[in-house]
Amino acid sequence: MSFLSNLSWRYATKQFDASKKVSIENLEKILEAIRLTPTSFGLQAYHFYIVENQELLAKLQVASYNQPQIGTCSHLIIMCARNDLVQAKNEYFDALSGGSPEIRAKLSGYEQMVDGAIARPTSLEWTKKQVYIALGFALAACAELGVDSCAMEGFDSKAMAEILGLPINHEIAAILPIGYRALDEAPRAKVRFPKETLLTRIGE
Ligand SMILES: Cc1cc2nc3c(=O)[nH]c(=O)nc-3n(C[C@H](O)[C@H](O)[C@H](O)COP(=O)(O)O)c2cc1C
Repeated sequence: MSFLSNLSWRYATKQFDASKKVSIENLEKILEAIRLTPTSFGLQAYHFYIVENQELLAKLQVASYNQPQIGTCSHLIIMCARNDLVQAKNEYFDALSGGSPEIRAKLSGYEQMVDGAIARPTSLEWTKKQVYIALGFALAACAELGVDSCAMEGFDSKAMAEILGLPINHEIAAILPIGYRALDEAPRAKVRFPKETLLTRIGE
């Protein structure tokens, strides 16, 4: 199948077959797609948790308005934005400079620009947008691998963070249960606006 037919095949799966597990190989590919996600300035100020434990999933389902995807999925990927952006920026510039103070000094103009961006009052919202890019990459990777998924933001992030014991610098932005669709679930038909509605070519 091609990329586009894989995207047509996927749908927001509501009920997974709890007996089917995503293989370690496929999970690693999905996580690698997340790792390869581009971010603004390359900052990668996010963190991802993978939950497979059934007891935890059952508790997390309660914290997500009892949506059945959570309790039936093979793995749940919890996508967090970091709110400790100065620390995240320092980690990135350490990586960028390979730990060399001389290279870091040469990057000071760039670093000052990033310092300005992360000091804005909207920086957490901006960081969450980067998480959504990773969410898109993960959705596309799942489709390529024939793994079902459902992007979700219908959950109580505070309750979820408490259940998982997350550190305060990690704020859940979105979650992604993955697995295999339950056989008795009818795939949801695609409802998409036609190109004429969505697209406007300018200058033709
Ligand atoms: C950011 C985001 C959040 C979503 N949150 C939920 C959710 O909490 N529960 C749910 O059942 N579906 C959720 N969806 C799925 C959408 O309803 C679904 O993707 C959309 O209706 C298009 O259908 P399709 O994915 O089957 O093509 C979410 C999708 C996105 C992209």
